Amino acid sequence: MEITEQIGRLKQQRGALILAHYYVPEEIQQIADFVGDSYFLSKKAMEAPQKTIVFCGVQFMGESAKLMSPDKTILLPDAAADCPMAHMATPQEVARVRAEHPDAAVVCYINSTAELKSCCDVCVTSSNAVKIVRALPQNEIFFIPDSNLAHYIAQQVPEKTFVFGTGYCHVHHSITEQMVRQARREHPQALFVAHPECRGDVLALADAVGSTSEIIDFATQNPAQEFIVGTEMGVLYELQKRNPDKRFYPVHAHQVCPNMKRNSLEKVRDALENMQPAVELPGQWSRRALAPLEQMHTLAEAAR
Ligand code: 13P
Ligand code: SF4
Repeated sequence: MEITEQIGRLKQQRGALILAHYYVPEEIQQIADFVGDSYFLSKKAMEAPQKTIVFCGVQFMGESAKLMSPDKTILLPDAAADCPMAHMATPQEVARVRAEHPDAAVVCYINSTAELKSCCDVCVTSSNAVKIVRALPQNEIFFIPDSNLAHYIAQQVPEKTFVFGTGYCHVHHSITEQMVRQARREHPQALFVAHPECRGDVLALADAVGSTSEIIDFATQNPAQEFIVGTEMGVLYELQKRNPDKRFYPVHAHQVCPNMKRNSLEKVRDALENMQPAVELPGQWSRRALAPLEQMHTLAEAAR
């Protein structure tokens, strides 16, 4: 029996839902019930009636789903698939900045550990960060962990002051201004679309900046026929699927998130068969880490 057939049968037996991020290998995107950006997937996991969810992404995505739905079984096909940036801030750093800036809101990118979320005021994803930060009552913002995203938000919300975290995504940070200029020389007709985890000088060259879903929507709706894509290569699958006649180029050949690529069809099948690895969270963080996620969902819906 084909592996996709095995997955289909197990999925039915378990009454499971399969969610996949745009960065996982395309054969997983093909069998997933829903593919999307971090916010879309977080909402789907929360609203899904299924009690078992296979979350093909990285740890923080599975953890966030478990925080929002503690009664569901959240399976991560590879428990070691982790986003390094999620660890690039500490509760100690938050405590220090809170002592120095008692009026600041601590805003945490969803790419963060549950422990880090537990000491923040509100979470955001790349698709709602600007709207949520703008809507917060506080005028001072401490944004962790991603420094590039924080600077992008600060530029979009100039009326507020910022304290910046120092984390970064190695995949997006590896894209440089020189590389983008070179790609533009090679493809002079192409528009450049970028994820806000890219460096500021790279974003300054972009025709559009947005989350993975926003990049896909922009390129689909825009009449241009060629696009240089400043995010992980996995989005090229959906871009090409929706726009078979358009051409998409990465800025360089190594825009690959090794953690997202740890997901495989075999691991999805094994997770459904064994109901493992399942996300478990230490109780002491869970309640406090849930509040900023709930706050994000409330504010994101209000800002729509
Ligand atoms: P999106 O929310 O834009 O899908 O981004 C997730 C991510 O990990 C970006 O590196
Ligand atoms: Fe983390 Fe970057 Fe991979 Fe996204 S692409 S999961 S931010 S390492």
